[in-house]
Amino acid sequence: MTDNRTTHWDNRYRGAEPENLSWFEAAPALSLRLIGQAAGPDASVIDVGGGASRMPDALLEAGYEDITVLDLSAEALARSRARLGDRAAPVDWQVADVTHWQPARLYDLWHDRAVFHFLTDAGDRAAYARALSSALAPGGTAILMSFADDGPEKCSGLPVKRYAPEDLVAEIERLLPGQFDVKETGRFAHTTPSGAEQRFQYTVFQKRVGTG
Ligand SMILES: C[S@@+](CC[C@H](N)C(=O)[O-])C[C@H]1O[C@@H](n2cnc3c(N)ncnc32)[C@H](O)[C@@H]1O
Repeated sequence: MTDNRTTHWDNRYRGAEPENLSWFEAAPALSLRLIGQAAGPDASVIDVGGGASRMPDALLEAGYEDITVLDLSAEALARSRARLGDRAAPVDWQVADVTHWQPARLYDLWHDRAVFHFLTDAGDRAAYARALSSALAPGGTAILMSFADDGPEKCSGLPVKRYAPEDLVAEIERLLPGQFDVKETGRFAHTTPSGAEQRFQYTVFQKRVGTG
């Protein structure tokens, strides 16, 4: 499964410039606002399934120094490293499938834009939840952005599971009972490079101290 996934995503990043991929955003303004509300620049941040996004650029620009970008596509991470040049050096680049990943340390903030929604298999969602629970420090924040219940049924040609904010809250509570408080939820629309509108939801969770 991981091999198929890796091939799919490597091919996507090999086949197009990042600016032309449907999920591209020039500046992750909402993510940055939510991250900034939760944690200052001394926080450790992991962008899960970060791909070739401009998130590390924006975090570096905002003064964050402890940044990890995890993605199963080495091709995607290579794009970001090439774009950042010397600025890529302090970033921890991890090639891994989050559903098989065992974190070696704790993070203050977990950010996922458009990754959890690919996990249509309940076992994969449980594995993601285990990684989230073991990677996030007590009191840490998890920001999960996914296609909303009125969003597209596919992303990058793959089926997705769509969530209203309350559905995502319920799913995380089912997977990790009693571990999180919900700090904020909302909806937004992403406009793809070809001009299509994709409806998303976001939910900001805070991990309770003394759990997980
Ligand atoms: C739609 S893209 C979003 C990329 C980035 N978060 C952004 O907002 O630009 C989904 C990303 O998740 C990665 N991905 C998909 N499944 C994954 C998994 N199981 N583990 C780690 N990364 C995964 C893909 O390689 C891809 O880079």
